[in-house]
Amino acid sequence: MKKTIIANWKMNPVSLDQALHLAGEIEKRTTGIKNAEVVIAPPYPFLKDIGRVLKKTKLGAQNMHWEEAGPYTGEVSWRQLKHFRVTHVIIGHSERRIHMGETDEMINKKIKAALKANLIPILAVGEQKKLSENAMRLVLSRQLSRGLAGITAHDFKKGAIAYEPVWAIGTGRAATPKHAGIALRMIQKILAGLWKTKKVTMPILYGGSVNSKNAADFISPTMGGMQGLLVGSASLNATEFTGIIKSSSPESF
Ligand code: PGA
Repeated sequence: MKKTIIANWKMNPVSLDQALHLAGEIEKRTTGIKNAEVVIAPPYPFLKDIGRVLKKTKLGAQNMHWEEAGPYTGEVSWRQLKHFRVTHVIIGHSERRIHMGETDEMINKKIKAALKANLIPILAVGEQKKLSENAMRLVLSRQLSRGLAGITAHDFKKGAIAYEPVWAIGTGRAATPKHAGIALRMIQKILAGLWKTKKVTMPILYGGSVNSKNAADFISPTMGGMQGLLVGSASLNATEFTGIIKSSSPESF
């Protein structure tokens, strides 16, 4: 299965010129890529122009509103995103849960709307602080069962889950690949229970201080075993981000 590598630029960079330069460099340096699907999720105002320079790289959004249009000041709808070649959308990122008051119920509406609009939802989940395995399972179960309420495995077959322990995001202190692997199996088990299936096949990504040095270990089947990565800070540097893509798809280079 192709690895999914997503650049979450958050509220960066500050200018369109910088954004175009960065996207252009990433696109140029990864043209030969075979076994990874690369997605760039820039801030909304850059979507249109970035969409024009990307060829192989996919375009993602960092959020969306579940309604098509309406009185929601400051929001952007799934319908509006569809004008800009957007294929993927990150939903439920911890920064939105924490700073913007996004609830599991809102996240659930967004996922349903994204699926209906044929956008690929990347549902972000993760515990806020380091917890015992049991406590962590409770947090992940709650986020997954509420976020995916009323959504079948079939509905979500193109979707992905990003496991992002909040304590590892933007800290430079990533989780260990072993911890990510434990979370991966936990998430697979929770989803198998929710959907009453034996095998969960959708990609489960890791995010939280991924860089070009630790990426390979998260992906390695004998270490983390993750099926992709959600990258914040390191995706703002073309050399770092290309390095991450290379380690997840070494045979392409
Ligand atoms: P980070 O961010 O790579 O800067 O830790 C990851 C994310 O928040 O998606």
